[in-house]
Amino acid sequence: EMERTLAMIKPDGLSGKYTEAIKEVILDSGFHIVKETEVQLDAERASVFYAEHSQRSFFDSLVKYITSGPVLAMVLERPDAVAQWRTLIGPTDAKKAKTSHPNSTLCHFSIRAMCGLDSEKNCVHGSDSPESADREISFFFGEAESVTVEHDE
Ligand code: CMP
Repeated sequence: EMERTLAMIKPDGLSGKYTEAIKEVILDSGFHIVKETEVQLDAERASVFYAEHSQRSFFDSLVKYITSGPVLAMVLERPDAVAQWRTLIGPTDAKKAKTSHPNSTLCHFSIRAMCGLDSEKNCVHGSDSPESADREISFFFGEAESVTVEHDE
């Protein structure tokens, strides 16, 4: 079943010029980029986006990081988009993402392994559930997006 998720390239990803490489991985992985917008968040907007983390010790640092430059928000579509995008970006801690697992036969490529730095500067975001995806897509692209599903392919 077709699904949408919100992907965001964070300021370190954009300033590090990883945008094209990340988009290539996105398209090669069967996602359609439905919409995109580059925006500079201010502290107030960032605090709304990350409201669920407002009581965490890293919150102030997170707001500072995410407002340190523009971000690129994208609506991605494919079957099982939320879970597939979370798998593709890898663990929150980019250091873990870069760790190889010699005993595993699985491929451990992830976008955070490619361009992330640590548990904060992890270069990309992905919605953690379909409900979060609706909320986050509305945050960047307006209310109508969450109820409009087009099937034009
Ligand atoms: P993300 O999972 O996209 O959304 C929450 C963000 O908070 C996360 O990415 C990181 O950028 C940041 N974050 C999560 N855990 C930590 C941590 N332990 N220290 C600093 N930042 C964090």
